[in-house]
Amino acid sequence: MKKYLALLLALCLCLSLAACGSSNNASVAENTETDASAVAENTEAGAGDAAEAAALTTINAGKLTISTSPDFPPFESTDDSGAVIGIEPELMELICQKLGLELQIDAMDFDSALMAAEQGKSDAVVSGVTVTEERKSSYDFTDSYTTITQAIVSKEGSGITMENLGDYTIGVQRGTTGHIYTEEDFGDKVVAYDTYSLVFQALNNGQIDCIVMDDAVAKAYLATNPGLEMTTTTYEPEEYAFGFHKGNPDLVKAVNDALAELKADGTLQSILDKYMSE
Ligand code: ARG
Repeated sequence: MKKYLALLLALCLCLSLAACGSSNNASVAENTETDASAVAENTEAGAGDAAEAAALTTINAGKLTISTSPDFPPFESTDDSGAVIGIEPELMELICQKLGLELQIDAMDFDSALMAAEQGKSDAVVSGVTVTEERKSSYDFTDSYTTITQAIVSKEGSGITMENLGDYTIGVQRGTTGHIYTEEDFGDKVVAYDTYSLVFQALNNGQIDCIVMDDAVAKAYLATNPGLEMTTTTYEPEEYAFGFHKGNPDLVKAVNDALAELKADGTLQSILDKYMSE
C-alpha cells in the first residue's frame, strides 16, 4: 500500500514538473528520478522492517508480551486508569514500533514477573531487572540501559546506616537484589513483601525499621511519603536490562538493535531525564 502511494506521489511529481515548461527539462527529469528512487528506497526499508517483524517469533504472534511489577516509579507504575506508565513502558513502546510488534503489558508482582519470563508465559521481564550472574542462567539479557545502586530508606532521624544495618529489621521486595543481598548478609533480620506498597506500608506502620532497595526508585517513593529519608549502601552498582525467555536470540538481537538506535539518537537519555527530574 505504502509502495503504491510512493509511486503515485512520484508520478504526480513527474507530471507537475513536466508541466513547468521545456527549458530545463533534462535537469528536471534527473531530479525527479532521484526523488522517485529515494522514495522507493525508503519504502523498501519500511517493508524490510515489516518482513523482519514477520520473522520474529514471540509467544503471542505479532505481539511482544512483557511481564512487569508496576510498583516501581519512575520505571513502571500505574496511572489512575490502571494503565502501566513510566520509563520502561515508554521505551518498550518505541522498541515495539521499530520491530513492528504490538506491546502487551502483563502486570503482576516482581517475583511472578521474573517467573513468567523464565517459564515462557511472557517474552521478557521488563521490571527494573538487575543483571546478575545467577539470573543469566535463567534469562537472555539485552544490553543494559541504566545503572542504580542499593539505598537504605528509613524514618527521618533513625540513624540507620550501612554500618549498623544488621541491628535493624530490614524490609525488601521478594525476589529483588535488595532481598538477595540483605538476606545473605543479615539473614533473619530481613522481611520480604510482594510489592513496594506493602513494604512502605510496613515501614510507615513501624513493622520494619528500614528498606533496602534501588536508589532511583527510593527517591520517587520519598517524594510521596513524608517523614522518610534515604542513605547510600556499599553494595555494587547494578545494571538494568530486559530479561528474555531463553532461546530466542533473533528477538533479543532485534531488541538490542532497536535499543542501540534509541541510545544513539538521544531518545533513551531524554526519556530517563524526563522521568528522573519529576
Ligand atoms: N533491580 C532490582 C532487581 O532486579 C529490583 C527490581 C524490582 N522491580 C520492580 N518492578 N518492582 O532485583
